[in-house]
Amino acid sequence: MLANRALNTDTICHDGQGYGTIAPMTNSRPHAAMPTPTHDEAAHERFCQNLAVKLESRFRPQLRTLYEDRVRPHLKASDESPRVIAKAMRRFDQTRQWYRLRTDNQDRMYAVSGAIIDRQLESLAARAKSLSGALGSLSLDPTIKIPNYLADQDIHRKPGGYHTERTTDDVAAGAEYDRTITVHNMGSQGANNDDPGISLAAEIKRRFPALKPRRILDLGCTIGNNTLPFATAFPEAEVHGIDCSAPCLRYAHARANALGVGAHFHQMNAEATTFEESSFDLVVSRILLHETSRAALPRIFRECHRLLSPGGVMLHCDAPQFDEMDAYQASLRDWDATCNNEPFMLTVYALPLESLYAEAGFDKAQTFRGYAASQYFQRHHPDPNATRSGGKYFFTGAVR
Ligand SMILES: C[S@@+](CC[C@H](N)C(=O)[O-])C[C@H]1O[C@@H](n2cnc3c(N)ncnc32)[C@H](O)[C@@H]1O
Repeated sequence: MLANRALNTDTICHDGQGYGTIAPMTNSRPHAAMPTPTHDEAAHERFCQNLAVKLESRFRPQLRTLYEDRVRPHLKASDESPRVIAKAMRRFDQTRQWYRLRTDNQDRMYAVSGAIIDRQLESLAARAKSLSGALGSLSLDPTIKIPNYLADQDIHRKPGGYHTERTTDDVAAGAEYDRTITVHNMGSQGANNDDPGISLAAEIKRRFPALKPRRILDLGCTIGNNTLPFATAFPEAEVHGIDCSAPCLRYAHARANALGVGAHFHQMNAEATTFEESSFDLVVSRILLHETSRAALPRIFRECHRLLSPGGVMLHCDAPQFDEMDAYQASLRDWDATCNNEPFMLTVYALPLESLYAEAGFDKAQTFRGYAASQYFQRHHPDPNATRSGGKYFFTGAVR
């Protein structure tokens, strides 16, 4: 553990070598369900966050230069695919250092959050239980089978993934998600890490002014950070979130109560839910698709089609598809696939999602894609290189 005297975060931020202005980062706003770090742990988290920013905003742009100067001139036009470019780039020390530093930082981040949570495993569960019940609801299904794509590996190196439970009424996986997203998104999504939800809800209102959803469903909601903004944006609607993970859902329910927002959380598989057909007017997901599989996606899209009422809207927000960028940019996903246990990424971002929506029953002419402007970004203007989304959130979808 770091010694207290080493913990002036300014000295961690500014290395005295022209580090320059760094994006204003937001710490997560504590709430009653959240694990509390010690001073040293908070500083250690901050170090991980600052290193993530530095790797993204300072280190990564140099790799583009390496590509343009040393790799691209030797590639035939037909070789300019993400996989071929990534393989060629991995021959250079600079690329391998970037992979190593990112991987180490990911493991360091989980080691820090793991220590915070291990210390208070039982008290977090008890606190979540005491917060439950007043607003919204929680329904768990102990018979649910966790899909292999979640159970077979520690997704993005998160120890035990989303679903592992170690104690009665465990909330650890959810609590860990709550602490690590601020590090992962480099503080660029607001104090409640809910900027994507806020921004997407605003975009839906702008794009579909006639849509007055009575029931809204968020697929793969984890801790509900991007579910709750829909309850705020559409106060007339009943808002539901589903996930396979019981510890995340227990935490989501407690967190929603701690923040004073009502939503209904259910343990269900998005490939086949138990909701009635046509029972939702808006079905959304955020960064769910890339964590599933090629076999699961068509089932999820068919389920969205079944769940939506006529005129209802399906909207999936994930990182931009590869046809939104050049092959070099797409090749940067190689780290996620090879080092960060995200094996589906290289496949999902190359899929023609709109065609899959049509195969699931949606009218191809009613499919859409676009970017939602980040509301946080518009207010705070951080360095776009020091955010993962560049100040906007990509989405695809279809009207039923
Ligand atoms: C990256 S997290 C999503 C985070 C959250 N939506 C947000 O905006 O921060 C992916 C979540 O999807 C869940 N998930 C993956 N496949 C699922 C499925 N088939 N059904 C329900 N949830 C699923 C995982 O358990 C995990 O909690």
